[in-house]
This record gives sequence, C-alpha cells and structure tokens, in this order.
Amino acid sequence: MNEILEQTPTAVAEFRELQVAIRRRRTFAIISHPDAGKTTLTEQLLVGAGALAAAGLVRPKKNRSYAASDWMAMEQARGISITSTALQFEYGGALFNLLDTPGHEDFSEDTYRTLMAVDSAVMVLDAAKGIEPRTLKLFEVCRTRGLPILTFINKIDQPGRSPLELIDEIEKTLVIEACPMQWPVGNGAALKGIVSLNDEMFHEYERYSQRHGEDAEPVPWDSDSTRAHVGQDFLGEAQGEMALLSEASPRFDQSRFLKGEQTPVYFGSALHNFGVKAFLDELLRLAPQPQPRSTVNESVAIDPLGSVFSAFVFKIQGNMDPQHRDNMAFLRVCSGKFERDALVYHPRLGRRIRMTRMHRIFARDRTLMDEAYAGDVVGVVNPGLFRIGDTLASEEGIEYPRIPSFEPEFFCTLSCQDVSRTKQFRKGLEQLSAEGVVQVYYSVSAARREPILGAVGRLQFDVVESRMLQEYGAKVRMEPMSFSCARWMKADPDAMDSIRWPSRGIEVCRDHEGHLVCLFESAWDLRMISQNHPKVIFEKTA
Ligand code: G4P
Repeated sequence: MNEILEQTPTAVAEFRELQVAIRRRRTFAIISHPDAGKTTLTEQLLVGAGALAAAGLVRPKKNRSYAASDWMAMEQARGISITSTALQFEYGGALFNLLDTPGHEDFSEDTYRTLMAVDSAVMVLDAAKGIEPRTLKLFEVCRTRGLPILTFINKIDQPGRSPLELIDEIEKTLVIEACPMQWPVGNGAALKGIVSLNDEMFHEYERYSQRHGEDAEPVPWDSDSTRAHVGQDFLGEAQGEMALLSEASPRFDQSRFLKGEQTPVYFGSALHNFGVKAFLDELLRLAPQPQPRSTVNESVAIDPLGSVFSAFVFKIQGNMDPQHRDNMAFLRVCSGKFERDALVYHPRLGRRIRMTRMHRIFARDRTLMDEAYAGDVVGVVNPGLFRIGDTLASEEGIEYPRIPSFEPEFFCTLSCQDVSRTKQFRKGLEQLSAEGVVQVYYSVSAARREPILGAVGRLQFDVVESRMLQEYGAKVRMEPMSFSCARWMKADPDAMDSIRWPSRGIEVCRDHEGHLVCLFESAWDLRMISQNHPKVIFEKTA
C-alpha cells in the first residue's frame, strides 16, 4: 500500500478505482440435480435484478438446458451481458458473474471445472426430493474447495417433504451445518408463507400472477393479521417447528459460512417467484467478493485486490464458430485488471505473450472487451497456446495449481469407421481431449491400439460421437468397457516393476500427459491390488 501511496495521484486514483471495481464483483454458480429448478431460479434472479423483463419469455419448454440461442434471446431482450459461459448482471451496487454449470445433457468435467472458477455457489434442492445424486456430486466438488454455499429449497408451492426432514438430510448427507434463515408455513396447496427468522417478519404467499412479480410487504409474524391469515393449525405447527429449530439449529456464523462449514437455508418457489427477491438480497449480502487464491507455492496466495494481474484457464471450447473453426480459452481473472494488448507471462510455456483480443462471448457472437477485473470471465482465441489449468499473470513467479481431472466412471474404446478420415479423427480426439470433454487413455499393452475414453457421465460419449461426425466428418464406433473406476499410479520404478497384474479386470494405460492410469472393473479389484502392493499409490485424480 505504501508503495502505491508514493505514486502519482493518477496512479493512486486508478488503484482505488481498481479496488472498487473488484470489491463489487460476486462470481457464483448454481448447482442442482436436473429439474430442481436451476433454470427457473436463474431467470427469476435476473427478473429480480431488473436484468430481464419477465420470466418464461426466453425459456424453451421441456428438456432443455441453456442453449446458445436462449442466452442470445435474453441478451436481445434486455441488452444484458450474457455469454454461454458467464452471465453478468448488476444488482444493489454489485456486479454478479453467474457461471453456467451445464447440468443436463452436457454434464461433464466442464461443470466441475466451472466450480473452480467461482467464489460461491447456490445449491437448489427440490422440496419433494431433497438431496439428489448430482447435487451430491457437485456439492463434493464445492467442499474440496471450501466454497461458501447458500441453499435454496425450491418448489414449496407443491406437496413436499417436511422442512425439518430436509434440514436433517442436508446435515447428515452433506455433513455440513444447515442454518435455516427462514421457515415455511404450510406447504403445497396450503402454503401460507415464509417467516424470516432473524426479524420474525412473515411473507405471505401469493401467486406470482396475482402480484405481477412483486413480493407482498412482510408483516410481523406475531400479529393478529398473520394469525388470521395462517389459521390456528398451521400457526401451531410452525411455532412448534421453530421452537425446535431455535434449540437444535446452529446460529448463522458468517465466518463458518465463508469456510464452507455452514450453509444458510432459504425456501421459495422459483416458478411463482416467491421468496426469490429475498434470496437475491441475501445473495447480495452474503456472497463473497473475489477471494485470495493459493498458488503452487503454498506460502503465496494472490490478493485479488492487488495491482498484479493473474488468471487461469478453466474451460476450452472448440469450433464455437463453424466459419472460423477456432478454439476459445476461457479465463477466470483472479487478481487485478486484465487489459487489451497486455503482455502477460505464461509459466507453462516460460514466455510472455500478448493478449490482443479478449472477448465476451455470447452464443456464436463475440464482442471485444478492453478490460476485465478479478472475478470476471474472459474468452480469448486459443491458437494452441492454452490448456485447461494454465496460468497467465503480469509478473513471473505466479502459478495456480492445476485443475485435477476428475475420476471417470464410464469407459469405452473408440475407433474411426472410415480410414480415409483417420487424420480428422485424430485431430478431433485431440481437440475434445484438450477441452476435457472426455479423458483419453492409451493401453500400455500392444494388443490394444485404439484409444480408451473415460468420462464422468455416459452422455459425454454421445457428445463425442456427434461432435466427431459434425465437426470432423469422422464416423466413430464405441465399444463400452466394463471398467468402473480409474486410479493414477505413483511409485518408484522398482515397486512398479514388482506388480503382478492379474490377467483380468484391470487395464494399465497412459493418459495424455504420459501418466500411468489403471482402470479397474470393480472396487474389489482395486482393493486387492492396493492391499498387495502397499508401496504403490493409487490416486483418484491426476
Ligand atoms: P432445471 O434447470 O434445474 O433442470 O429445472 P427447471 O428450472 O427447468 O425446472 C424444471 C421443472 O420444474 C419445470 O417444469 C419448471 O417449470 C418446474 N419448476 C421450477 N421451479 C418450480 C417451483 O418453484 N414450483 C413448481 N411447482 N415447479 C417448478 P417443466 O414442466 O419440466 O417445464 P416447463 O414446461 O414448465 O418449462
């Protein structure tokens, strides 16, 4: 700071401006199981923030994720900055970056990596279903990063499980303290409203259509009008539950929330826009600004508010524009300001490169940006210079840790059906591997020449098949394999040589960086090999 104060008044003013810009950024993602209401909540948050005129305008029906065209339609509807990767909107003086976590057909490591690029997450649960498998997986990724998570229990306008039971499930299944900030009164067709627990105000439930999107003015919970509206039965039940809560639930503790040890829990109906505005206000109050990030040098964490620029690549996407066939790298800016034409250091390549073109991408269109701040997402054309996990910084000596590859659970072999397209097949495979759509392994055994694909979701194989055909003209054949888990192996060469591999149930491969990976048919095979070879370390991620 002293160094800055010794500088010219212009430099000091610029530094202050930088700090103001960064402090107001809130970069978050929404995690959920499909159908819990992520899309509906996203829309209503945009409506609540004034970034979208009305929900449902741009949402296609049934079985869709945010397709490029949806984002485009939103962009056109309100002139807001939307990308298929990050969506930016302002509310209450803050600038939110909402990063898209494709959770549907597109479910992949991409979703996991996006969680490496946010500072907090919103977990949406369906009140009738509670924690579902994908919520659990995504939550686990958030936990490894210690991300603060706000929980929104959605669809309380429908018959659901008891709120006490849901709170209990969050605590037991996710092993996190759940701290209700509100309490629903009644549910389904008999939903009466929500009590906000800190100020004991009652928000009466009225359908969105009757109110044109405005939450009714809250009234004191302990008042005659509330008693008359709620009725004796529901009142008694809610009071009983709230008494239980005040004894059993933890008090909200901001520092525990910021460490990911406690999640504040809210209730609402995204479809009827009930409780969403209140939730948006809580997001504004609680979601943290860009946080310091550790580097590979564990003693150094980079201050986002500093004047040093740093960023890392969290996503690579090829062929976004069929006319140009190019490849975009998406960076999360972690500290300082990113300016057009900046000469930045690329530690993996060990040299500086000039960032001439930074883009804000939406659908297939791009707009050039002149600057971006810590918390923002920027797209840059990737002429093969960037890989997932690469760091870029204005100074040498800063390197963020690699983004781990997640443990694949599905495997298949891949071959090209048409020998005349072998070159395109190889190119396509290289690109899809660079994007992290699937992991690609090659067996060390000479008996198997074709590549093996590993993915965290089976649908990724369909993505590979269709992109290979559409983008590379290569028709592929996939043969499912019976492996169910992969482990990266570490050991000194003697220990490695001493392994007596069983003839079945296991395949030893190398990944694209040459690391040894072992595929196992079952947890039993993995256990046996690990027990018999204690000097070999089998790790979940590379
Ligand atoms: P997702 O992105 O998490 O997959 O969920 P999405 O918002 O698409 O919502 C899934 C379904 O749940 C949609 O119905 C949506 O209208 C409904 N839904 C979302 N929030 C609520 C809520 O608070 N209450 C109720 N009752 N329903 C809710 P759909 O029939 O699949 O689609 P659509 O025909 O309504 O578009």
